[in-house]
Amino acid sequence: MRIDIVTIFPEFFDVLDLSLLGKARQSGLIELGVHNLRDYTHDRHRTVDDTPYGGGAGMVMKPEPWGEALDAVMPDLVGEGEADARGPVLIFPSPAGEQFTQAIARDLAAERHLVFGCGRYEGIDQRVVDHYAARTRVRLISLGDYVLNGGEVAVMAMIEAVGRLIPGVVGNPESLVEESHEDGLLEYPSYTKPSAWRDLEVPPVLLSGNHGAIAAWRRQQALERTARVRPDLLPG
Ligand code: ADE
Repeated sequence: MRIDIVTIFPEFFDVLDLSLLGKARQSGLIELGVHNLRDYTHDRHRTVDDTPYGGGAGMVMKPEPWGEALDAVMPDLVGEGEADARGPVLIFPSPAGEQFTQAIARDLAAERHLVFGCGRYEGIDQRVVDHYAARTRVRLISLGDYVLNGGEVAVMAMIEAVGRLIPGVVGNPESLVEESHEDGLLEYPSYTKPSAWRDLEVPPVLLSGNHGAIAAWRRQQALERTARVRPDLLPG
């Protein structure tokens, strides 16, 4: 998969050299390009924002640098109204977007090219979204119902969630199956050695060797935890 990120803070993404995603880049499973939006400005101050039409607090990101940057990372876009199902998906992290979920992560993991546009300030001029929405698939995605200073942290989270679903990135694919949210439930609690620690024992069923009983206990724990913490995930 190819991933491009447009941001005014490219250093933010240096950490993508580390860990599983760093390895996936070294092995060629993920090809990453991080682009500084200011490289697509033409004034001495490398200006990327301006005051909002209609007034109000804060600054809005100007459309021209965004247009040049996104044209550069998506050179093959076809004409208006011809969004190609195999073309890039352009994602703008935004508190005004649809809520990011494991299901969206799975959809995005099947794509060939993701482009993330990190907004700052009060957002990006809406015409940028409208222009590209007429030419490729565009999604506004929110990490949750809270406000971050910009899209960078949200993009890091999305890339981590998507990257680990790309076949070959996580060494043991079985470990992806039994996680929180994969089956619509929160994950059951896990234990390792020693079997007694401080005054706490590992639940005896896990030491029983009875695989059927263990599976039933884990399912029950997942259901109870979900009902307690996230009842909204359970069917009505
Ligand atoms: N940018 C600012 N807040 C955000 C959020 N909650 N999700 C995604 N991007 C954001």
